[in-house]
Amino acid sequence: MMYFDHSATTPVHPDVLALMNSIQSTIYGNPSSIHSLGRKARSIIENSRKQIAKAINAKPSQIVFTSGGTEANNQVFWSMIHQEKKHVLASSIEHPAVLQVLSKLSSFGIEHDLIPVNSKGEMSISRLDSKLLNNTGLVSVMLANNEVGTIQAIKNMVEMLRDKNIKVHTDAVQCLGKMPVDVKNLNVDFLSLSAHKFYGPKGIGILYFKNKKTMSPFMVGGGQESGLRAGTENIASIAGMGLASEIATTQFENHISHLRDLESQFKSGLSSFFQHAIFNGNQNNKLPGLLNISFPGFRSDILLAKLDRAGIAVSSGSACGAGDIKPSPVLSAMGLEDTINISTLRFSFGPTNTSREIDFLLSELQTNLSN
Ligand SMILES: Cc1ncc(COP(=O)(O)O)c(C=O)c1O
Repeated sequence: MMYFDHSATTPVHPDVLALMNSIQSTIYGNPSSIHSLGRKARSIIENSRKQIAKAINAKPSQIVFTSGGTEANNQVFWSMIHQEKKHVLASSIEHPAVLQVLSKLSSFGIEHDLIPVNSKGEMSISRLDSKLLNNTGLVSVMLANNEVGTIQAIKNMVEMLRDKNIKVHTDAVQCLGKMPVDVKNLNVDFLSLSAHKFYGPKGIGILYFKNKKTMSPFMVGGGQESGLRAGTENIASIAGMGLASEIATTQFENHISHLRDLESQFKSGLSSFFQHAIFNGNQNNKLPGLLNISFPGFRSDILLAKLDRAGIAVSSGSACGAGDIKPSPVLSAMGLEDTINISTLRFSFGPTNTSREIDFLLSELQTNLSN
């Protein structure tokens, strides 16, 4: 299978897998146990916390392990029920792990409004400013979008909100290894990451927090993670994520230059036989290696199935179920009309993709787009 769906999930890096396998078979102590096996497990967890903190320029004490990006986001939003200011603002192109949580929270007294984006998927800071209410306590805007890759001006947004006593969360799940993720520079209060997007295992992630006083647990029980996330820790996955974060940051330059090469080869190859392609998202400020392309006149579910039959994995920009194809809410929010919306595929490249694979992808697309 030629895999061009790295924004959905990434294969686990071989070094990460080797580390996890060895931990899984030998370090079976409970990290809360006092004996040496327990202490060994604890030291593995704390080592991973240091690695991930270093990768995002945080302190280890500012990291709580979660089961992934969804839980990290949930922890931030559910904590709003304990806050005085109960209004939240989010961009209209957030992941369901933000938007669905906010919808659910409306029956718990948390109100929210969505900030529109322009045709490139950029949220304007003046639009955000105009939507602020006296009781806005949290603004959540993703660092980069998972469907189109558009990067948001989080730093400027935080600057605008300074002195307004409003917390800022950013969902940075798509970003580590593909753009700098520096919590000091961004100056956000909360940031979510998920290991399976940067060649780590699935089912593990982190929530960064600037100040512990602003945090409350989402999972309660045994008091692990300094009382911020109960449950016996998933040691092998935590260790795997730590190593994956180290690899993602140390190999950053090589990784993004490889992604950019593949992307430009694909773009120029595609334009040589299909001039009607529409490139969605901000082409001048987006994640490298992620291309969201509409093929007017061609249904994405049919194209996707044909590529799949040829051994190529890509994503459709829109969700489909039981033969029914639904437009992507992200592309709709960016103003794309439905007929174009349902003709969209997402290609997301990774470090093991080669130039020959791109040639094969192009030749399959050429065949399918000329019928
Ligand atoms: C932007 C974004 N946020 C959150 C998530 C959810 O992360 P997880 O799969 O770790 O729960 C994803 C995963 O697709 C994502 O792309």
